[in-house]
Amino acid sequence: MKENVLILAIESSCDETAAAVVENGRNVLSNIISSQIEIHKEFGGVVPEVASRKHIENINDVVAQALTQAHVSAEDIDAVAVTYGPGLVGALLVGVNFAKGLAYAWNKPLIGVNHIEGHISANFIEDKSLEPPFVCLVASGGHTHLVYVKDHGEYEVLGKTRDDAAGEAFDKIARAIGLGYPGGPLIDKAAKSGNKDAIKFPRVVINDDTLDFSFSGLKSSVLNYIHNSRQKNEEIVVEDVAASFQEAVVEVLVLKAIKAAKMKNCRTVALAGGVASNSSLRKMLQEECLKNNYKFVKPSAVLCTDNAAMIGCAGYYKYLKNEFSESSLNAMPNLELAK
Ligand code: KG4
Ligand code: ZN
Repeated sequence: MKENVLILAIESSCDETAAAVVENGRNVLSNIISSQIEIHKEFGGVVPEVASRKHIENINDVVAQALTQAHVSAEDIDAVAVTYGPGLVGALLVGVNFAKGLAYAWNKPLIGVNHIEGHISANFIEDKSLEPPFVCLVASGGHTHLVYVKDHGEYEVLGKTRDDAAGEAFDKIARAIGLGYPGGPLIDKAAKSGNKDAIKFPRVVINDDTLDFSFSGLKSSVLNYIHNSRQKNEEIVVEDVAASFQEAVVEVLVLKAIKAAKMKNCRTVALAGGVASNSSLRKMLQEECLKNNYKFVKPSAVLCTDNAAMIGCAGYYKYLKNEFSESSLNAMPNLELAK
């Protein structure tokens, strides 16, 4: 085994075209992210076909920049890792096909990575001493999962959303109260000057035996509140709605994450995914972990939202186990977190 393993990683599952060079899984030499947010803002959400077209335009430059910024060239790279699911199929195909082309042309192994596994792995970059087992709450625009990370690459899904993902709920409510897209950061900001106790929205805990989530009831309740207020010509205080909604989401996420840690008798809790950059979620989970004497790990904001460094990290642990992909690797839009 070489002393230093360099992975070139590519991520294109949604609206970020990203490439990174990662050394030995945890040392990020470059992390280039080309975001399409400004383009999709106009439409109030990600338009899949537009996303694919933008990935096609950007991917060459993004990968070239990742290599240049890391001061490495093709010969230095040991493997090419790429997100192959879950995500938007047309968007995934751009990254997968590009990675396959590079791996073939450079004669390097190809490593297909699950996007959720990538999000979880961001924690290994953030905390160099972190080792499994730990419980990880993954909350993004497309997924809300509570995962028990038994070992590198070994996962047990303890619970997941039965309807909307947490980030999706943030985006929909932000649109309803006129904050725009993407909703998460805008609600987070508005909530800072709002009263979280102004409106009592429901905390949907489903039944207590499961670690599953459900956010559609909360979403309907907020939409009803807005609708009723408008009908009665009552003023809607956007900041109060944002703060009260955020509190309802965060309380349930934190409650279930702590419950999962207790269930698994596990002393470390980690956060991942776009929603993991929410200031209230980070604060409340930190406090609860402190109370329970758990170690709490949270990636910095740039490693929470979609990036390729996290894919390079997950790819490294697959490299160590010789888990390489065939050249027939395809995009899998509904890929589950295996094992
Ligand atoms: O992980 P990510 O970049 O993409 C997916 O894999 O889905 O997550 C994007 C999601 C969006 O729904 C966005 O609104 C949400 O993460 N998000 C936030 C915050 N920043 C991003 N949600 C709440 N608070 C934030 N500060
Ligand atoms: Zn993501």
